[in-house]
Amino acid sequence: MISNGTSKTVVKLHVNGETRDVMIRSADTLLETLREQLGLTGAKRACQNGDCGACTVLVNGEPMHACLSLSIETVNQPIMTIEGLRNSSIQQEFVDKWAIQCGYCTPGFILNCHALANKRPDADDETIEEWMQSNLCRCTGYQEIKEAVKSVLQNHKNDSAS
Ligand code: FES
Ligand code: FES
Repeated sequence: MISNGTSKTVVKLHVNGETRDVMIRSADTLLETLREQLGLTGAKRACQNGDCGACTVLVNGEPMHACLSLSIETVNQPIMTIEGLRNSSIQQEFVDKWAIQCGYCTPGFILNCHALANKRPDADDETIEEWMQSNLCRCTGYQEIKEAVKSVLQNHKNDSAS
């Protein structure tokens, strides 16, 4: 960690498998750093209050609200944003199940689903519903999203079994 003599500090963040230098203040949120310094705008800025999940990213595989996470606390931890799942099968599953309308909530849902598939591939409907409660969608009515999540978990199980 290098101080530049002002209130900002240069740190290295590990994002989507790459190590990137960023200059942050201690109060900078991860959402600000990802969007404004690294150009990773897939994490959306919405409520900025921890209520909607549009800003969800994975830190150490755990879904986190980037609007409430401090960048400084994520140094030396693997961070995944939706850009790390570009052209992935999970993204395709959301498209195939019509789980996207305006798309604003979609990156958060996909990352949350990715974490669920890794942690609880056998999740039942109730668990899926509970897990996804951290994310809000104003367009789809949720049914298509739940169908997409179920397909992702099923594919994950099939892949693990083969
Ligand atoms: S913008 Fe972070 S939870 Fe809504
Ligand atoms: S698709 Fe528009 S908010 Fe979810």
